Parts: sequence; C-alpha cells; structure tokens
Amino acid sequence: GAVPVIAVDGPTASGKGTLAAELAERLGYHLLDSGALYRAAALAARAAGVALDDGAGVAQVAAAMALRFQGQQVWLDGRDISDELRLETTGALASQVSVHPAVRQALHDVQLSFARVPGLVADGRDMGTVVFPGAALKVFLTASADQRAERRYKQLISKGISANIDSLRADIRARDERDMNRSAAPLKPAEDAVLLDNSQLGIEESVQRCLGWWHERR
Ligand code: C5P
Repeated sequence: GAVPVIAVDGPTASGKGTLAAELAERLGYHLLDSGALYRAAALAARAAGVALDDGAGVAQVAAAMALRFQGQQVWLDGRDISDELRLETTGALASQVSVHPAVRQALHDVQLSFARVPGLVADGRDMGTVVFPGAALKVFLTASADQRAERRYKQLISKGISANIDSLRADIRARDERDMNRSAAPLKPAEDAVLLDNSQLGIEESVQRCLGWWHERR
C-alpha cells in the first residue's frame, strides 16, 4: 500500500511496545498496539459475562466495542480501562481470547484502519505475517525468558506494583507457549523479518538498528 508500515513482532515482554513507541515518535508515525485490542476484547467479554472460550461470543463483543485511545489512556465503552488494560492478568486473558479465529477476524479491519499517512508502526504477534504482510520493514524482537521476566519484574517494582519473579517467568513461558502453538496466526517471524535479539542491547541501540534498516529500505 501507499502508507509505509513497520511491523514489530515478538513474544511477551520482549520490549516491542517500547521499541515501537519510540520508532513511531522519531518517525512521526502512528502507532498500533495491537495487544491492547486483544486485551480490551477480553475485558469487554468479561464485562458482558461472555465466557472467554466462546469464540463467536467474544468476537461479537469485540466487533461492537467502542475504544478510544489518547496517549497512554484507553476508554472502553466510555469506561477508563487504562490501568486494568496493562495488568499481567489482563495479558493472560487476552492470550486466551486471541486463539479464536473469529476474534482475530473481528479485530482485523480495526487494525488496518490504523495505517494512515504518514506511516504506521504496528506492534504485536502477527503484524508482519498476517495483518500487514506488505510491511516495508518487519522486525522480530526476541530476548530470553529470563531476561524478559527480569525486565518485567523491574518495570512492575518501579511502578510500586509487587511482583514475584518466578511466577512472572512461569506466566511468560505459558503465554509464549500458547501464542506460538495456536493454529490461528501463531507467533513466528515472517520469512522476510529481520531478527533482533535485544538481550544485550539497550533501547537506544535497538532503536538505532531499526532506524538503520528502515533507511536502507526507503
Ligand atoms: O502484546 P500484549 O502483551 O499486549 O498482548 C497480549 C496478548 O494478546 C498476547 O499474549 C497474544 O496472545 C495476543 N495478541 C495476539 N496478536 C497480536 C497482539 C496480541 O494474539 N497481534
């Protein structure tokens, strides 16, 4: 398409969100946090009393939800869900609803609508493989489960939220397992993705590498 897209995919707590937001900021592009849509769908389903294993039911709720994004704040059907959206427990619920093809389908067009001029940075699990297969740059970000658990731990503690590193690591592994092994849009790098292991890289280094790849492709 005419709108340039950068896809940033990878597992839980790999730093995708931070990297994508930073790239969008530097390039003046729009940002799609696709995980937030799955998280919101899970919260909407729960609020509506729809079981998370009811794919058709959750899809219906997901298609009908009114979401508003403004900076770090998110409203679902007029309710501020900004804090609830970021909870680890909400991520786990999102992972459960995201296995349903009907739910993924319901969110597909919503995601496409984020691709507007001058460009988009999209973060998720299947941005490069399914939603934006024509993306000009696809980055697949990885880091070891230990590294990711440690980062998530520090992030939570710094926000004053108590956390247990062993249970975080276990949750991260369980979520990776489910995301990689589902049949609908499993987490995997696109064939033409660049792999970036950021275990030993700071955010600025990761940003610079991506900007370098982006300029090579433009
Ligand atoms: O990235 P985030 O932790 O917000 O994603 C929450 C969950 O939503 C993931 O564990 C995954 O199951 C699901 N998801 C997805 N496809 C995306 C983004 C998120 O299946 N593009």
